[in-house]
Amino acid sequence: MDFCLLSIPWRAIAALGLSALCVGLSRAGEDVPFVTTPDNVTLEMLRAAQVGPGDHVIDLGSGDGRIVILAAKRFGATGLGVEIVPDLVRQSISNAQAAGVAGRVSFREQDLFKTDLAPATVITMYLLPDVNLQLRPALLSLKPGTRLVSHDWDMGDWKPDQTTMVVAPDKKVGLEKSSKVHLWLVPAKVDGLWCGAGLLTGTRLQLSQRYQEIEGTLAHRQRSRKIEGRLEGATLRVLGGRAGELVLEVAGDGLRITAAGGPLTLAQGQVFKRAAADGCG
Ligand SMILES: C[S@@+](CC[C@H](N)C(=O)[O-])C[C@H]1O[C@@H](n2cnc3c(N)ncnc32)[C@H](O)[C@@H]1O
Repeated sequence: MDFCLLSIPWRAIAALGLSALCVGLSRAGEDVPFVTTPDNVTLEMLRAAQVGPGDHVIDLGSGDGRIVILAAKRFGATGLGVEIVPDLVRQSISNAQAAGVAGRVSFREQDLFKTDLAPATVITMYLLPDVNLQLRPALLSLKPGTRLVSHDWDMGDWKPDQTTMVVAPDKKVGLEKSSKVHLWLVPAKVDGLWCGAGLLTGTRLQLSQRYQEIEGTLAHRQRSRKIEGRLEGATLRVLGGRAGELVLEVAGDGLRITAAGGPLTLAQGQVFKRAAADGCG
């Protein structure tokens, strides 16, 4: 593992696809070598996710425990660090005790791919691009609105909701001495046909979803208009339509209009239901 850290720049490890070489040299089956996130980047990751006292932060590949320890100490969250190298787990536990947060965080010697992610409101990662991609299906199936933060590496064609560049003079790898902090909100699943109920009876909303990006058609009788929107977790904001503001919220099997302007004002509070197999009837 030291060979990976010392003789090959971190970006080159990923860019050249040499992570397999590192795995070959590792002692505990790591998919990613141990490199720490600099303190100022850790802070930015937690700020980007707006971590607070109600949050439970899971760091996948938690190294020396710094991310969940800071989440607890500075932001009052609870946390779990999952780490495959036993020495790092021991070090994390001792670091948490020294920081006075041992009651709010725990560290588990465990493969990150075998971890139950459902209890997390925030997941942090400093892994590698191919590891992020392997995790992506599990991350996409989490509760809508779960915040995911990745240091440096993205998730392929699932574009981040926000990316921040951070100057990182203490960074141990790479030539640039800067880091990217990517944030995603897990989008609700809204793809398909929705049927208006109540005042909206007879109105159909057909949505096509690509991660958090939405295209669709809103149709009533013979009239229809194309819409484009964006999901922020369970909130769907329809962008710049002629008809004014339109915001919908996924709630159970319904899609409720929580804000509407222009001719749709009266539709506020009305609900679309998922279509049955034979359509809107
Ligand atoms: C780049 S370090 C990041 C450490 C810490 N999260 C941070 O940002 O400072 C990646 C960590 O993931 C751990 N790791 C690699 N593969 C793992 C796996 N399959 N399960 C759990 N931990 C793993 C490594 O041992 C290493 O400590």
